[in-house]
Amino acid sequence: MADAAGAQGMLFDRLQEQQSDSLLQLIALANADPRVEKIDVGVGVYRDAAGNTPILRAVKKAEAILHETQETKSYLGSQGDARFVELIKPIVFGEAGAGDERIVGVQTPGGCGALRLGAELIEAADPDARIFVGQPTWPNHMPLIECAGVEMVKHPYYDPAGKRILFDEMMDALQGARAGDLILLHGCCHNPTGADLSLDQWKAVAELVSSRGLIPFVDIAYQGLGNGFEADAEGTRLVVEAAEQALIAQSCDKNFGVYRERTGSLFVKGTSAANAKVILGNLLGLARTMWSMPPDHGAAVARIILDTPELRADWEAEVKEMCARIRSLRRRLAAYDERLAYIGDQNGMFSMLPLSVEAVEGLRESHGIYMASSGRFNVVGLSDESVDRFAAAVVEKMDG
Ligand SMILES: Cc1ncc(COP(=O)(O)O)c(C=O)c1O
Repeated sequence: MADAAGAQGMLFDRLQEQQSDSLLQLIALANADPRVEKIDVGVGVYRDAAGNTPILRAVKKAEAILHETQETKSYLGSQGDARFVELIKPIVFGEAGAGDERIVGVQTPGGCGALRLGAELIEAADPDARIFVGQPTWPNHMPLIECAGVEMVKHPYYDPAGKRILFDEMMDALQGARAGDLILLHGCCHNPTGADLSLDQWKAVAELVSSRGLIPFVDIAYQGLGNGFEADAEGTRLVVEAAEQALIAQSCDKNFGVYRERTGSLFVKGTSAANAKVILGNLLGLARTMWSMPPDHGAAVARIILDTPELRADWEAEVKEMCARIRSLRRRLAAYDERLAYIGDQNGMFSMLPLSVEAVEGLRESHGIYMASSGRFNVVGLSDESVDRFAAAVVEKMDG
């Protein structure tokens, strides 16, 4: 026994050390900084004017209702909370899409679970499938999709120095896609850039998808926080309608503020209602091998809110307030200096500053400003008081 272990080495001795997540490192550094005037725009959560990430009013009330009324914690099954999925469907697809029997959905552990389950479905259906992914993208996209074995093809999306979407370059690259290839698209509030496709650009993508037989895989994690629920879903609805098949990874973690409850869903559009049933069966089978069943609490809370008119109205009002705060911070930054003007035209919590890694480090050392080394920062991490200080420090760095 001992000899065998010696020859083979101990199992876990074979593991390679992993680099810890750079954003988590950044959070630790920011927490350890004793300067009271420090500014943490690294972590990607909503913050109110006081710098807190609040539990939404409707969520608190729904949790109380759940506490009072829930009678069992027995298993729900791999699909999760079916009513939750039914209520999310029209929010993402509109009333017309909600009735489309070719679109099936399951509850997932957050948007990450939805992306991973989608990737597993793609790999199960076609091991040779490829997915086109614009650069830069949310750093988790690549590992989440790649670990299912799906080949990734990178293409240009945004030029941080030029502060613009590289749409022509993206469309040129997509000309290389074959029928059956997938395209990963951010439904709204692009992370990390904040730069969303215009409606005309979405239309062009929809036409390409339809004429070339491509399959959109839309990640919509911030619906409601860009320009409102309807406007934020317009692009997604266009491409899903144009495509014969599509995947949509949805998250409630931001727009219900239930990040740690891991609440989301994956919808898949098949070629027919019968095909959609087969897809659903496959989704359930794949979910079973990963998490068996999704966690219940966040979806149950979202379901109660969406099913209770007063709570739903209050939730919509609070998301509107959050959205308005993000937009007002964007306007303040844009008005501060011409070089920040582009931030006013973007959407959601994130934007990217055209700064070198050294400049980002310099801001951390001299001003206690914490942002990702890519120059991505969380707009809504700023307060009414810190926004001008932040803008002044950034512009000073841009001046060199
Ligand atoms: C673009 C994007 N997609 C998906 C997710 C995943 O969200 P969740 O926390 O629901 O897994 C995030 C979270 O930051 C995100 O930024």
